Amino acid sequence: LDNGVGHLPPLGYSTWNDLSCSGMSEEGVLSAAESLRRTGLQKRGYVYVNLDDCWQDPLGRDATGRLQADPQRFPSGMHGLSKTLHERGFKFGVYTDRGRRTCAGREGSQGFETLDAQTFAEWGVDFVKEDNCRSLSGPNNKSELFAQFALFRDALNKTGTPIFFSVCGGGDQLPFSNLTYYASDERGGKKLANSWRITSDVTGSWTLRFAYKVDASLREYAGPGGFNDPDMLLGSSPGAARRLGPHQSRTQFSLWAILMAPMLLGADVRQLTPFDLETYSNEEVLKVSQDSFAQQGSLLTVKGSTSLWGRPLVDGAWAVLFLNEGWFWKRKVTCSKRCWSKMSFKRNSTVHLQDLWSQWLPHSDIGVGQASRAAQASGAGLVGQVAQTLQGADGVGR
Ligand code: GLA
Repeated sequence: LDNGVGHLPPLGYSTWNDLSCSGMSEEGVLSAAESLRRTGLQKRGYVYVNLDDCWQDPLGRDATGRLQADPQRFPSGMHGLSKTLHERGFKFGVYTDRGRRTCAGREGSQGFETLDAQTFAEWGVDFVKEDNCRSLSGPNNKSELFAQFALFRDALNKTGTPIFFSVCGGGDQLPFSNLTYYASDERGGKKLANSWRITSDVTGSWTLRFAYKVDASLREYAGPGGFNDPDMLLGSSPGAARRLGPHQSRTQFSLWAILMAPMLLGADVRQLTPFDLETYSNEEVLKVSQDSFAQQGSLLTVKGSTSLWGRPLVDGAWAVLFLNEGWFWKRKVTCSKRCWSKMSFKRNSTVHLQDLWSQWLPHSDIGVGQASRAAQASGAGLVGQVAQTLQGADGVGR
């Protein structure tokens, strides 16, 4: 969306997988922000602190029809919280819904689009996620869906405040078959928003399959100012309701960087494992995510449960992801002539390789090699270094 924000995918934190509805509070939000500061993640760019559902007063709007925060849980109100977060160097995100109610049953924005956009702008909101629950004729009525999301987009634009606008298929998820119209430039995608959710809620039983779908039919729609959104990063904290294994979590992070997806941490950032913190702090992979060329990566080659993904970068280099979805920690992967030509490299040219997940800092060069052999060599090297567990051996090289 050409609204002056979101040239690159947002980095930050969202409350939903962490606090859900029952744990939502000002204290919870501020302690998450404090953890982003303390762990150094804020300095690395994770600046969005996004309130998902359940910040709203369960009793509804105020006497003038304005949305208001739950007074028990947000004693400083939204304006107060926004001010505090801004003073601490963060950006402030909120959530609403295109229907009468949100997915968790709080006030939605239907019929109040102009007023709600104004209210958000007055609060200093930097990011709005608009969900797709409880609408008049269900989540899949295209004309209503586009009309309502567009109403909010226009209302936000009219405020004159640049606000990242994220639309969500939501719990009432749009069927997969319809995703193309949702992401396409005709009425959806970059015409509509800065990001659009293309999966149902990400969970511990996360599957990579949709990544292939994103590549095949949705990649062309992503670009500067608009991103396919496969939902939040899960992390691997023990005890979290929604979580991955440590290496799966690192794999998810790597894949999200290649797919130019929003990097919103859904984990309890107060208690990240050292491994996850190292994952999310990887400056080089973050550079891939934030590359100013802003081209979504794509599948280069796939064989069984092993695939190679590549993303072109601004300096002419390519970020390559060696993705192992299988149960065996060591895999060989070969980039054929066709695979190399997708990256516009000649098969026998010399390439310079850098392993972005090497255990040594700074992530060291792994040498110069002939293109025809390089993928094999670095694939084995990367997999050997980072994968000690079951599923999801991973590595980004370039
Ligand atoms: C839907 C969305 C989630 C979250 C919840 C909140 O399920 O897909 O990301 O926003 O609603 O109720």
